[in-house]
Formats: sequence, C-alpha cells, structure tokens
Amino acid sequence: MITEVTAQELNTESFIEEKVREIKNVVGEGTAINALSGGVDSSTVTMLGHRALGKRLRTVFVENGLMRAGEPQQVAGFFRELGVTVEIIDARDEFFAALKGITDPEEKREAITQTFYKKVFGRIVRESDAKYLLQGTILTDVDETVAGIKRQHNVFEQLGINPQDAFGYKIIEPLIQLRKDGVRRVGKALGLSSELFERIPFPGPALSARVIGEVTPDRIETVRKATVIVERMLKETDAFQYMAILHEDRVTGMRDGRRDFGGQIEVRCWDSVDARTATPTRLSFDTLESLADEIVSEVPGIVSVTYNIATKPPSTIEAI
Ligand code: XMP
Repeated sequence: MITEVTAQELNTESFIEEKVREIKNVVGEGTAINALSGGVDSSTVTMLGHRALGKRLRTVFVENGLMRAGEPQQVAGFFRELGVTVEIIDARDEFFAALKGITDPEEKREAITQTFYKKVFGRIVRESDAKYLLQGTILTDVDETVAGIKRQHNVFEQLGINPQDAFGYKIIEPLIQLRKDGVRRVGKALGLSSELFERIPFPGPALSARVIGEVTPDRIETVRKATVIVERMLKETDAFQYMAILHEDRVTGMRDGRRDFGGQIEVRCWDSVDARTATPTRLSFDTLESLADEIVSEVPGIVSVTYNIATKPPSTIEAI
C-alpha cells in the first residue's frame, strides 16, 4: 500500500531530504542509472538522484525517434546548465523496428516497454555496473495501471513483475507517493528551471501515444510537425496539457484544385489539476481556426483538423 502525499500537505524540503537519504541508503557505495525523458517526473528524479549520488548516478536520454522536435538536445542542454551530464543514446532504428506493423494501443506500449527495458536500456545497464535504476513513477501511473485502464510504461512491481528477475536491476521510485502537482513543487525546490518544470506533461511512449494505427517514421514526423504548431499556439493558455493526434482514417480534401485523400489531425487541449479528470479548454474559435490553418498548410498530407470536446472520463488525456 502506497501512502499518498498530496501537494497541499507536501513539505518539499523535508521530502527532498528524506528521499535523498533513502537513495543514499539503498545504493550505498554502488552506482545507479536513470533514463531521462525531459518530462517533469524523470527530470525531478534526475535532480534528486544527482543530489544523493553525484557522479555515481549516470543519466541517459534514450533517443527513441518518438520525441518532439529537437527534444533530446534541448533536454540535455537544460541539464548541462545545472551541472548534470546527460548521455544521448541513439536507438531510433530499434524502436521503429519493434513498432512495425503494430496497431493495437497496448501492443504498442508493450513493444516500447520491451525495447526500452529489455533491449536498449537493459543493454546499457548490463554494460555498466549499475544495479539500481531510479525511476519517476508517480501515484497516478500506479492507480491507472492497477485499475487496468492503461498500462503505464514504468510500473512493474505493482503488476507483480520483479524487475530484478526480469531485467536484472532493482528499481527505486522516489516520487511514487506524489501526483503531478506535488512533483512540480519538488522539481522547483530542486532548482529545475521554470522552463523545464512548467513544461506540460508528456507521456513515456511519447508521440507514439498520439499516432492511431501503425507507428512509422513518416507518421511520427507528421504528428511531430503538428505538435510544434499546437505547442507554439497554445503555449499562452493556462491549459494543463495540449497535443496533436494523428488519426488513421483518411478523408477527402482538396488541394490546388485537385482531390487529395489526406490525413486528419485531432487537437486536444485539457484543463485539469492532476490528470485524473479533465475537461476540454474553451479555446476561442479564432484560435481553433488559426490552428487549423497552420496545420493544413504546414503539415504535409493533412487535410482535416478537429478539436476534441469530450471530457475525461470517459475519454483519456492521450488517444491510445
Ligand atoms: P491518460 O491518457 O491516461 O493520461 O488520461 C494521464 C496523464 O498521464 C500521461 N500518460 C502517460 N505517461 N506513460 C507515461 O509516462 C504513459 O504510457 C502515459 N499515458 C498517459 C498523459 O500525458 C497525461 O498527462
């Protein structure tokens, strides 16, 4: 049973002290490793780990080909400024090979999990002498996994999978009592720049959670281009999260006087406190029209743009 620490009752300084002490105790004189995605959770865990272990924590950023435009370099740059070295590991081919032909959402998550832990990260860990893995699992991930709503990519013990037996390492999850709002407070207290800790949440399976149907390099590039536009145009809203989703359905459009049977992007923009429930942001119609204009003119192959108006539940924030 995990005891929740709400953002209201959280004392960031004593939380950080306690977690730093726990990490030190568990790892002892050994070394640990962690994978940074640049999201709030993995960034906060990276800072906690470095505070506890210094150079004995090796931080890698696995470039899976599914991240947003320029993200690996940008994230490594944020951490360089904080004195933390981040190694970027190029594993794009392995991820796309694993995702080839898969359309089922859970099979996609499974392919990413297996490729990440068993192949790429497993290999990195085996080649290092680290026996401990620091991970930014939060309580919402556990809840939704246990409830069988979704299998978050980073929850093992709650599913009865022993990471030591399955993957050869022990997992430390210092943020597991917190939800997103609490993690943000801890990240801020650890000195993460507001640019980083105020970034909107982004899922572990990255842009593949926003491609309905097969995940290919081309389809990821399409959703990546649309994501640049959506993130730029909705940055000034107070929304919790906003995204572009590439649909599988094609629709008839017209371009340069000719029929163009093209793709469809769905825009979602959510108001939420902790991602457990969410409602669509009431964007102005002018904003929606500008989004549509930019997306159809800048993203090759897209002829239709829709805006999601359903709430979570029954919808979820991501599309897969
Ligand atoms: P859903 O789609 O379940 O999302 O309403 C709730 C929050 O969690 C993020 N999310 C994920 N994060 N791995 C993650 O690390 C995942 O597989 C995943 N799926 C959703 C989502 O972006 C939202 O903030």
